[in-house]
Parts: sequence; structure tokens; C-alpha cells
Amino acid sequence: MSTQAQLRLPAQSPSRRDFLFLATGAFGAVGAGAAVWPLLASMKPSAEVKAAGGPITVDLSHLQPGQQISVFWQGKPVFILHRTGQALAELRDPKLLARLGDPDSAMVQQPDYARNWCRSTKPEFMVLIAICTHLGCIPAIRPDPGDSSIDASWPGGYFCPCHGSKYDLAGRVFRGVPAPYNLPVPPHHYTGDTMLVVGENPAGENFSLSSIEQL
Ligand code: FES
Repeated sequence: MSTQAQLRLPAQSPSRRDFLFLATGAFGAVGAGAAVWPLLASMKPSAEVKAAGGPITVDLSHLQPGQQISVFWQGKPVFILHRTGQALAELRDPKLLARLGDPDSAMVQQPDYARNWCRSTKPEFMVLIAICTHLGCIPAIRPDPGDSSIDASWPGGYFCPCHGSKYDLAGRVFRGVPAPYNLPVPPHHYTGDTMLVVGENPAGENFSLSSIEQL
């Protein structure tokens, strides 16, 4: 069954809450279909940590360029993408920037320490809350530039099948789509080159996800 088939939309006036529920149900299907972006999560939070919604530690040492993993933090899906050099170069292409709604991340959808050209603390790794800022579906990664199923000038990014919102590989929203904001970046930091902690700020920072414009 396709993702869209599972996302049976309410007949009238779907609320954001409806879509968050549907998105949660469809999450496994989205991951299962992303065969070229393998799920390689190495994450072993304790039962106590999961119950408390505390930070989770993810070992990214085996995540190759071009691969993405999906984890859950506080019940929310989180994408962790290892961007290729080509993908990083694309993020600074003026032609792409001209198509984005908030290319400089002016709206508070990320911590200050991730308000930069790549929206991350390590350019190669992108950490995003995978909840569309329109009505809460889970976007699918569509990394291939020129993917004609989206548009001929597609630079690679995330596509939300619910109403067609598009984001680049930094989670920045395109102009002219229903989603109003960039995808949120959660608090996170690294304890080593590839040991990522999701849900906890670097020392001296106090960003809270509750301070963003739209989850
Ligand atoms: Fe409507 Fe993503 S939920 S475009």
C-alpha cells in the first residue's frame, strides 16, 4: 500500500491535529519506502529516557554520505541526513535561494547555533523534526536533482505528499507552497565527531523547541 493510500484524508476541514495523527501512522511506510536512504539508526535510549522524553544519543559513524536515518525524540520523528558535497554546494546556489520562502532562516524555526547557511552545527549532518509546517504530515526525502515527478528544476529536498509542500535539504521551505515555515531543527549537539545527542543543547545554550513559530 502506498503512503498516499494510507493517508486517507478527512472529508472536510482537516485540522492540524488530524494530520499529526495520520502522519504518525504513516511514518513507518515512509521509511520503508525509502530504500535508497537506508534506516541505520544506532540508538539505544533506556526505557526511562524514552518515558521522560529525555535526550537520545545516536551514533552516526556508519551513516554514509547520501544516507538518512529516522529516530524518534519526544514522540516526534527526527530525520538525520548525511549530506553529500554536492548537496551542500546546492544549498548556496543563488537559483535555489531565490525559490525559498525563508532562505536565511529569519523565522525562529531553529536554535541560534543552527541559524546559518546549512541550518546545522556540522554542515554534513542535518537534523530536522520531520513534521510538515502546513498540517503536520511527514515529508518524504526526494534527494535526486531533476526528479521530474516533482518538477524539472527540482534541486533535491523533501516533498510532502499531503498538499505538495517542498523543502530543500536544509529543511527550508519553498515559496508558493502551503507550508509557511522551514522544518524545525531540534536542540542537539555532538559529544564526538559522530556522536549526536538529540534533545540537548551545546553547553551555554538554552534553546527550547517550544519557542519556535510552528511545529
Ligand atoms: Fe499539507 Fe504537508 S501537511 S503540505
